[in-house]
Amino acid sequence: MAVITAVEQQKARSEAYLQLFEQLKASIINVAELAVRLYEQGKRDGLPNKLIRADIELALHELIGERRLRQILPPALKRAYRQLADDDNIASVNSAMISELPESVFHLGSAKLLLGDCSEVASSDNNIPDDSIDLIFTDPLYDMGSIPLYSKLGEIAFRVLKPGGNLITYFPQYALPEIIQLLTNSGLKYNWICFVKYNGNNAFSHNNHVIIKGKPLLWFYKGDKLGGQYIIDFMESKAPNKSLHEWQQTQEEAEYFISKLTNPRTSTAGGLVLDPFMGTGTTGLAALKANRRFIGIDINPEMFAKARASITEFQLNKYSKKI
Ligand SMILES: C[S@@+](CC[C@H](N)C(=O)[O-])C[C@H]1O[C@@H](n2cnc3c(N)ncnc32)[C@H](O)[C@@H]1O
Repeated sequence: MAVITAVEQQKARSEAYLQLFEQLKASIINVAELAVRLYEQGKRDGLPNKLIRADIELALHELIGERRLRQILPPALKRAYRQLADDDNIASVNSAMISELPESVFHLGSAKLLLGDCSEVASSDNNIPDDSIDLIFTDPLYDMGSIPLYSKLGEIAFRVLKPGGNLITYFPQYALPEIIQLLTNSGLKYNWICFVKYNGNNAFSHNNHVIIKGKPLLWFYKGDKLGGQYIIDFMESKAPNKSLHEWQQTQEEAEYFISKLTNPRTSTAGGLVLDPFMGTGTTGLAALKANRRFIGIDINPEMFAKARASITEFQLNKYSKKI
């Protein structure tokens, strides 16, 4: 709140000024009342709290931007938010979100989610400008038919990564020679293979006569010089939680690489992380948790909706704690 001196107080406010002041007060009250009314209507219609809260958040975010939003939320709206946070029901939210027809672009705070084939979506400079991404952390599909996805990944990475930017990707071991070739063809440079060991049940690759205890991650980079800090190439992690989908990865791996290879967000800049095969949004959650910006792409509307639901939940919980 600005401090007003006695001299400043004596200055007369013009009629026009006072009118604008009244309009400003009224419009803030209108926004607050409309949000509360929207919430009440949503409840009457039986909509899940998370969905209503996401809609309020989206509208306000578009109106005044994230930072301003936190500063000027009026009390009535804060009360509505608190109420929403108190009686959340995550299960119903997930099913409601998934049954909705997703829009192809979802923007909330520092996260942008795009629905579509990553080659097409990422090829638009509007969506992802050249040389704009600090880190791609991703997990394409593993079956034989999906190996060409690594070629798409290489092309996207070579265009959008900043010089010195990094690509870390999970990959199927059986196709390592081919994948290294595809990624190298795109112009990226190979750096290393890191390994994650899971403490949990064993899996098997019977064709290869292997008992699987973890997963490797391939590390490529763009340009002549590596960016970011030193990485420890071996980590122990939890077995993935598959509550959202059998493809869901453990968040810890993404968190580790994001924290080492990107910088935290500031008001004007900060690490930008891309996952062109985002699935349920694991990389996005790790990026937001570490206060980085995130762009996620998925071709499958159901996965897109799951990612949208978990990222919305995370962002709104962050706001609820702040107000
Ligand atoms: C293995 S899953 C990623 C799982 C993710 N790491 C997680 O933790 O949930 C791979 C994802 O890539 C998506 N995908 C496959 N082909 C794609 C394409 N051409 N463009 C964008 N996404 C694609 C699939 O729909 C799937 O959700």
